[in-house]
Amino acid sequence: MKNNELFNLFMDELKDMLSTENQIIAALPKMIKLASINELKEALTNHLEETKGQVTRLKTIFSILGEKPTEITCEGMQGILAEGDEIVKGKTKSSLLDAAIISAAQKVEHYEIASYGTLRSFAKQLELDSEIAKLLQASLDEEGAADKKLTKIADGSFFTTGVNKVAAGK
Ligand SMILES: [Fe+2]
Repeated sequence: MKNNELFNLFMDELKDMLSTENQIIAALPKMIKLASINELKEALTNHLEETKGQVTRLKTIFSILGEKPTEITCEGMQGILAEGDEIVKGKTKSSLLDAAIISAAQKVEHYEIASYGTLRSFAKQLELDSEIAKLLQASLDEEGAADKKLTKIADGSFFTTGVNKVAAGK
């Protein structure tokens, strides 16, 4: 299935994803530093570790395919991260800043959820080594869980007050 236009598209998106994840690894420490509440700091720190593991998964996929792990600069992620910088800029440590960080981080997660979902579907359609779809699914699941965790921090739960509520001054 390697002699195929869809396979070429799969490879391009895989290279885009390697760039995406490396951009996120570079950006997360700043967000962690800016976050006020521990729950958010912990969620982002945990996701930074997961993201490093996701890079390892991508490299494993390249190696299964006998390809070199190269990047195609992901301009989409550059834009999302630049926008994130923009919305946190000028805000001092507060619930409002936490709410802004969550907003920026969830945009990142949704880009990744879309990308890993597509890559996994392409891998299945192309009948690539089944380990590849499994690796992509594992990263997709982590992105989904990270997104849900951020929603919980923003909205709060029965036991905790959400960041958004505090930011709204209620
Ligand atoms: Fe990721």
